[in-house]
Amino acid sequence: MKSMVIGGMILIVALMTGTYFVAGDSFSLGEDYINDLTMLAGLAIITISTMTVLKYVNQMKNDKAGGELVEENWDGIGEYTNPIPAGWGLIFIGSIIWMFWYFFVGYPTNQFSQIGQWNEETLEYQAKFEEKNKNIDAAGLRAMGESVYLVQCAPCHGVEADGSNGKAHDLTKRISKEQVVNVINNGANNFKTAYPGGMPAGMASGADVDALAAYVAGGLKGEKPASWASCSSCHGEDGAGMPMVAPSLVSYNDDLMVSVLHDGKKGIIGAMPSFAGRLSETQVKGVAEYIRSIGGK
Ligand code: HEC
Ligand code: HEC
Repeated sequence: MKSMVIGGMILIVALMTGTYFVAGDSFSLGEDYINDLTMLAGLAIITISTMTVLKYVNQMKNDKAGGELVEENWDGIGEYTNPIPAGWGLIFIGSIIWMFWYFFVGYPTNQFSQIGQWNEETLEYQAKFEEKNKNIDAAGLRAMGESVYLVQCAPCHGVEADGSNGKAHDLTKRISKEQVVNVINNGANNFKTAYPGGMPAGMASGADVDALAAYVAGGLKGEKPASWASCSSCHGEDGAGMPMVAPSLVSYNDDLMVSVLHDGKKGIIGAMPSFAGRLSETQVKGVAEYIRSIGGK
C-alpha cells in the first residue's frame, strides 16, 4: 500500500512536470489568473484521478467477492446476483428526468440561440453585400475575384495561377492534354450541380484519343479531328458546352465555375475541396471573371 502511494506521488509530480513543460510558457504566476486557474484545475484533476485509480486498484487487490450466488452455473463458474447500487440507480433515473427537463425547459427547441442569432445576422450582412453589388460591372467583379482568388485559391493554384508546379490545375490554360486523355478514358462526374449526367468513359478510343486531346488542349483551334463528332453532340460544335449537358472546353464559364466551387473536383492532379457555403454568388461570379481574365479564354 505504501509503495503504491509513493508511486502515485511520483506519477503526479511527473504528470505535472510534463504539463509544465508543454504549456508552462503560458503560466506567469500572478499576471494572468485565468491561466493560473487552469494550471490549478490541472493539478486537481491529476491528483484526484491518480488517487481514485489508487483506491480502486487497492480495492481490487484486497476485496473479497460477496453476495448471493445465482442458481445456474457454467462449467462450475458461478455468478453473483447483486442488487443495483442505489446511487447508480438514482443517477440513471435522475438523468432521464434531467433529459426531459433539458429538452423542454432548460434549452427548449426553437428558443433563442446565440448561434441562430449569429447566423441570422451574417445572412443579413450577406444580403446587404449582394444588394450593394447587384449592378457591379466586369471590372469590379474582376477586382473582387482577384482578392478572393489570392486568399482562397492561391495557396493551391499559385499566386500566378499556374498550378504551383503541377500541384493544382493550371488556371492560365483551360485544360492540359493529360487531363483530356484521362477524362476520355475514365469518364467524369465531378460537376454534379451543373452537369448532373456526367460524361461516360470511352467516347473515343485508339489514335482518336490522342488527336482529340491535342485538339482540346490546344484550345480547339485548327483542323477538327473527324472523331470530334462524338464529342460535339454534348460539348457543342465549337466546344462552348451546353447548359445541363456538358461544360465548355474553351472557357471557364460561370456554370462550370459555380459547379467546381460547389462540388470540388477529383482528377489526375489531385483533389480540389468544395467551397460550398463559403463564397457568395457575387464572389463566385467575380472569381470566374478573374480566372477568365488571366487565361482559360
Ligand atoms: C454525353 C455527353 C458527353 C459527351 C458525348 C462527351 N462529353 Fe465530355 N463531358 C461531359 C460532361 C457532363 C462533363 C463534365 C464531367 C464532370 O462532371 O466531371 C464532361 C467533361 C469533359 C472534360 C473535362 C472538363 C473539365 O473541366 O475537367 C473534357 C476534357 C471533355 N469532357 C472532353 C470530351 C471529349 C474530347 C469528348 C469526345 C470524345 C467528350 N468530352 C464527349 C459530357 C460529355
Ligand atoms: C486545396 C487545394 C485547392 C484549393 C484551395 C483550390 N483548388 Fe482548385 N483545384 C485544386 C486541384 C488539385 C485541382 C485539379 C483537380 C484535378 O483535375 O485533378 C483544381 C481544379 C480547379 C479547377 C479546374 C476545374 C476543371 O476541371 O475545369 C478550377 C476552375 C479551380 N480549381 C478553381 C479554384 C478556385 C476558383 C479556387 C478558390 C476559390 C480553388 N480552385 C481553390 C486544388 C485546389
